Amino acid sequence: MKVIRNIKKIKTILSKARSEGRTIGIVPTMGALHQGHLSLIRRARHDNDLVVVSIFVNPVQFGPKEDFKKYPRDLKKDALACRKEGVDIIFYPPVKEMYPSGFRTYVEVEGLSTVLCGASRPGHFKGVATVVAKLFNIILPSRAYFGQKDAQQAIIIKKMSSDLNMPVEIKILPIVREKDGLAMSSRNVYLNKEERANAVILSQALAKAKKMFHSGKNSREVILAVSGMIKEKKGAKIDYICAVDPQGLGPVKNVKNSILLLLAVKFGKTRLIDNIIIHGKKN
Ligand code: PAJ
Repeated sequence: MKVIRNIKKIKTILSKARSEGRTIGIVPTMGALHQGHLSLIRRARHDNDLVVVSIFVNPVQFGPKEDFKKYPRDLKKDALACRKEGVDIIFYPPVKEMYPSGFRTYVEVEGLSTVLCGASRPGHFKGVATVVAKLFNIILPSRAYFGQKDAQQAIIIKKMSSDLNMPVEIKILPIVREKDGLAMSSRNVYLNKEERANAVILSQALAKAKKMFHSGKNSREVILAVSGMIKEKKGAKIDYICAVDPQGLGPVKNVKNSILLLLAVKFGKTRLIDNIIIHGKKN
């Protein structure tokens, strides 16, 4: 396994692999790898001849008051995990390599990037779309792997690659959870003991929502119940709870085909997100 920090170098290696007809899978990450990331890597390993994991804490997707500086970084540990999974290359560029001085071009997926998490984190998805577009152009992967954990991000990346005719297949894989249901996230390490215990309510509330939708409740009733459950936990501060159309993020009232229920909740200073896709019963 190679760790490569230089764009020109990785392009040369991958262009040789492509000319030999080898397929390339990329798993873009910000490091602090956990089982959620590893599930993407395993799938990429299964599907492709060559697997590239990018580890880049992308400054452009963090707001000025967000956790860019304190975001967990541990290359040694991540490299060990990648090696175990049979990763071929870790792409680990310095910030200056990705954003040299004078950088001016950004990708904006209109509409989709300013709602939900985009409303609370202005500029976040512009940063995500830009860095992912850059990674696609550098790596030229056959396939790219993302998690349903970041549902809005997945929708935005799919839309970007389809709108801009990017020749890459986007694969979205299920949310990996802790034993008690908490969705795995690199940010879970910020939670203190009490917050960690309380955070279990998110997956419990989503499970309750699924039951309610299936018993015929509408999205207003479901959201009210979910928000009631979360508010009972000390220190939980709801950013949003929304039921949307899983393709376009538009509003939906009842589950006809399927519904995406998303939430963002702060426990102390830590903002957690989770979601569930609920399929309607065919009638
Ligand atoms: P990061 O938070 O490191 O996540 C990298 C990938 O892992 C994303 O596609 C994310 O959805 C997926 N992931 C995280 N937790 C998961 C879980 N519990 N189950 C399944 N998949 C999970 O998302 C980013 O980085 C960045 O925004 C990035 C796309 C790399 C652009 O900078």
